[in-house]
Amino acid sequence: MGILKLILIPAAVGVLIAAVWNLIPEKEIIVEENNFYGSGKVRSDNTEIKPFKVNVDQSVIDDLKNRLLNARISHSVLEDSDDFYYGFNSKQLLKLRDYWLNKYDWRKQEALLNQFPQFTTEIEGLQVHFLRVTPPKSYKIVKPILVAHGWPGNVFEFYKFIPILTDPKKHGINSDFAFEVIAPSIPGYGWSEQPKKTGFSQLACARVFRKLMLRLGFEKFYLQGGDWGAIITSLLTKVYPENVIALHMNMIPAMPGSNFMGTFYDILGWLIPSTLSSEALQKTHNPFAKFGVLIVETGYMHLQATKPDTAGTSLNDSPIGLAAYIIEKFSTWTNTEYRALPDGGLNKKFTNDELLTIVMIYWTNGNIVSSQRFYREFFLDRRCEALAKRYVSTPTAHASGLNELYDRCPIEVSRYSYNVTHYTEIEMGHFAAFEAPKPLATSVFKFVKDLE
Ligand SMILES: *[C@@H]1O[C@H](CO)[C@@H](O)[C@H](O)[C@H]1NC(C)=O
Repeated sequence: MGILKLILIPAAVGVLIAAVWNLIPEKEIIVEENNFYGSGKVRSDNTEIKPFKVNVDQSVIDDLKNRLLNARISHSVLEDSDDFYYGFNSKQLLKLRDYWLNKYDWRKQEALLNQFPQFTTEIEGLQVHFLRVTPPKSYKIVKPILVAHGWPGNVFEFYKFIPILTDPKKHGINSDFAFEVIAPSIPGYGWSEQPKKTGFSQLACARVFRKLMLRLGFEKFYLQGGDWGAIITSLLTKVYPENVIALHMNMIPAMPGSNFMGTFYDILGWLIPSTLSSEALQKTHNPFAKFGVLIVETGYMHLQATKPDTAGTSLNDSPIGLAAYIIEKFSTWTNTEYRALPDGGLNKKFTNDELLTIVMIYWTNGNIVSSQRFYREFFLDRRCEALAKRYVSTPTAHASGLNELYDRCPIEVSRYSYNVTHYTEIEMGHFAAFEAPKPLATSVFKFVKDLE
């Protein structure tokens, strides 16, 4: 592919410049203690914690049905490209619409969500929704963990993961301790309120999540994150290390160039693969190819980081458009090889019910636009990137997905940004907790146990 070569040289130059730039010590980064993202004038939070249940109005479901019946999918797939290389295959989309209309049962999914105790509480002017699940009484040792989701996901990604964390023995993991799990919806996602003012960045979210944990009585806790969740938990650890016992991530938020020594080993690992300890990476590692993948696969990011309100308008108006936009990611980001398949390999790891429930949570809350704005806020809040320089001495684990789209950060690189005490490779893609709940949970338990 010509485009890959075209960006290889500028990417290499850019990485080297960034690596040198990152040698300059960090300037003081000030994180305010408080901000206000609610509607209207600044006021203090109502700190009450209120129980919450998902209960979508029947009129929303009826309206959805009408829109699906009237959906216009009039483009046909190219005769010589019955796959996902041009995006969501329209033949497959018609089948999905049929499933959604005739077989999908939202009330069943709602019950699945409502099996978990849920609450809301006001932080920085926003109602923050979260799941709080405690282990059975038989566990004498209980450790608090916050698990953070990303885009285009929500807390539903954790519905198989949480029960393993709260009751490992029942799921064949031999552990004498269990986790009490707090899974918040990022404000603007799921059932958390949408920020009403600009500036709600990943750093703001880290601060809000910390306040949530403190309000629940957890002074010190564990963290797990992927996608934005990895960036949020990583920032939380960098800014408030006193509150974090250990950080587990299934994605290392560090691009080539973000660290001088790391970049050296990144390039060395490409030139001399035997310098990498991972056998899988010895075969595939190429720090510059990551930029090629970025160009080919992250057009959505550029749109969302610049004009989220434009990009989201039609998605918020059309459930079939929203489904194509979101579910396509569950194909490519799970395994890039799935692009070659007529059905995008969507049902290899996920059921239609699972995929549609992720979409339904965006649809019924009408919050695709606010979820997209989170990208814009990331690039506008320069502190998010500036903090990339700050080393994390808190013990950190990386559960690396072998099919992860572009983040396959070798430990030889990540150890210069994080105190990586645990590294494991798992046959999974980007949506780790959703696709591989048991291996991911196993990694969390081993990491935490080894620290004792
Ligand atoms: C990394 O974490 C371990 C376990 O807590 C600790 O013993 C070690 O000193 C830390 N290393 C660094 C470089 O902070």
